[in-house]
Amino acid sequence: MTSFWSWYITLLTLGTIAALVWLLLATRKGQRIGATEETVGHCYDGIEEYDNPLPKWWFMLFVGTVIFALGYLALYPGLGNWKGLLPGYEDGWTQASAWQKEMHKASQQYGPLYAKYAAMPLEEVARDPQALKMGGRLFASNCSVCHGSDAKGAYGFPNLTDDDWLWGGDAATIKTTIQHGRIATMPAWRDVIGEEGIRDVTGYVRSLSGRENPEGIAIDLERGQNIFASNCVVCHGSDGKGLAMLGAPNLTDNVWLYGSSFAQIQQTIRYGRNGRMPAQENILGNDKVHLLAAYVYSLSRKAQD
Ligand code: HEC
Ligand code: HEC
Repeated sequence: MTSFWSWYITLLTLGTIAALVWLLLATRKGQRIGATEETVGHCYDGIEEYDNPLPKWWFMLFVGTVIFALGYLALYPGLGNWKGLLPGYEDGWTQASAWQKEMHKASQQYGPLYAKYAAMPLEEVARDPQALKMGGRLFASNCSVCHGSDAKGAYGFPNLTDDDWLWGGDAATIKTTIQHGRIATMPAWRDVIGEEGIRDVTGYVRSLSGRENPEGIAIDLERGQNIFASNCVVCHGSDGKGLAMLGAPNLTDNVWLYGSSFAQIQQTIRYGRNGRMPAQENILGNDKVHLLAAYVYSLSRKAQD
């Protein structure tokens, strides 16, 4: 701000306050003390006004607001280029500097704690109540948007509380998943095996988990099995139980990321799926990821205990 505008704002603000104080005191001068029956003299539609002084509380309130305003303008940057006297904000208080100060304080306070846990094995951290509390808070602010506040997931977002894992559920693997993220590659099969192939292999996949296929759809299960054997076992395994290294899910259980209905599975096979877990290392740093991994690890342990 140029010094002209700085002075303009400063003088205008302080001048206004001074004028208000003058008005307050000037109208008070010469006023009687105590109530009276006398009126000020004017009368509108039969309504008259007693010539009473301002109520004391009102006067004090006014004085209070003036004192508050002056104190505020002294402490915070409000008057042109004046930076304010608030301790710790030599460059003037701003939302950004206040936030930075808070973050700095938090990292001073929690930094040593994070470092302590980061040096401990995940399995041990997962048994530490305080670490789990911190991990839970990190989860709520960084992960629950996708995995849900209860970590039970939703369509397309895996449940992290069961012991069914796409990419593996030992503590170290969970940490790797969170650190570096994951991109699942389930190819689209429409152009490879055709609509009839999709229909048959869908029926076969559903039979792996003991599902009845809808009546009225002619399904050649044997053909489905053959298609599965020649196209799908590389990733899903010859028993259909999946391959954690590739994030290929077990197709023989009751856990479905994209739904288990005939139509949904058909859709998955027809167009493929590419679930994407965003990498967190560059966002949160190793120490927080470590706590999160321990927290996530503890969730499925809890279910087993
Ligand atoms: C290149 C490896 C690969 C091949 C080959 C492959 N899949 Fe997949 N499949 C995956 C991956 C990875 C996922 C998980 C996708 C995700 O998480 O977004 C998946 C997911 C699925 C799902 C969804 C499971 C759920 O929980 O919703 C079905 C069904 C499926 N595959 C069936 C098949 C069939 C049938 C074939 C053969 C025609 C096949 N896949 C071939 C890797 C593969
Ligand atoms: C933008 C949405 C999104 C956010 C945010 C997110 N995730 Fe994920 N996460 C996913 C998706 C989608 C998958 C499944 C990827 C796949 O299909 O293979 C996944 C997978 C995972 C897995 C592997 C699950 C398994 O079965 O192997 C873990 C562990 C995980 N997330 C933890 C976390 C943690 C901890 C956070 C918070 C730091 C987080 N995620 C934040 C979307 C998200």
